[in-house]
Amino acid sequence: MPPARIRSAVDADLPDLVRIYNHYVVHSHVTFDTHPFAVEARESWFRGFAPSGPHRLLVAEIDDEISGYASSGSFRAKPAYRTSVETTVYLAPERVQRGVGPALYAALLGELEAEGEVHRAYAGIALPNPASIALHTRLGFTLVGTFREVGFKFGKFWSVSWYEREIPALRHSSH
Ligand SMILES: CC(C)(COP(=O)(O)OP(=O)(O)OC[C@H]1O[C@@H](n2cnc3c(N)ncnc32)[C@H](O)[C@@H]1OP(=O)(O)O)[C@@H](O)C(=O)NCCC(=O)NCCS
Repeated sequence: MPPARIRSAVDADLPDLVRIYNHYVVHSHVTFDTHPFAVEARESWFRGFAPSGPHRLLVAEIDDEISGYASSGSFRAKPAYRTSVETTVYLAPERVQRGVGPALYAALLGELEAEGEVHRAYAGIALPNPASIALHTRLGFTLVGTFREVGFKFGKFWSVSWYEREIPALRHSSH
């Protein structure tokens, strides 16, 4: 497989990002959305990211096809949470287990570290998801704790483990 090209998302990527995400909405417990999105319904989510600042959306392209994405979004809305982000990563199902996830996620964390606005990254992993736990652990996340049976999908309850990683280069902002 040729190497992935990692870059910030642009508007034209949105249909591919929705297609990738909808696969997991419909077929897995790893996201707690339960109904697939129309592309237009995902626009407000997409507009929450920018090529600079704490809320970023990176895509991996292989052979000119979008193979996955990683994002750092708002962790919680209240302003004192502005130095924390929630990170996530989704690959097209045919692109898993080839190192694309670690490459995307490392690029995202590298950008956050270089910019220095973010102090902590958090990731919620619906269990079981050994690949995601391995990915987050490899990239320096540690387990904070588990919300037990916090979600209900496909007729059963699911637990979510939350992982945390320091983003070391924070330059404290006074705002
Ligand atoms: C989770 C995901 C991003 C990982 O990306 P990936 O490119 O497939 O990851 P890799 O194959 O390079 O593997 C990363 C690590 O997971 C391990 N791993 C992969 N699949 C595994 C599995 N089924 N069981 C156990 N470990 C697994 C690899 O051995 C590797 O471990 P290492 O870093 O210790 O060597 C990707 O599988 C994915 O998109 N999954 C579906 C969506 C999802 O679950 N997103 C995360 C939501 S929290």
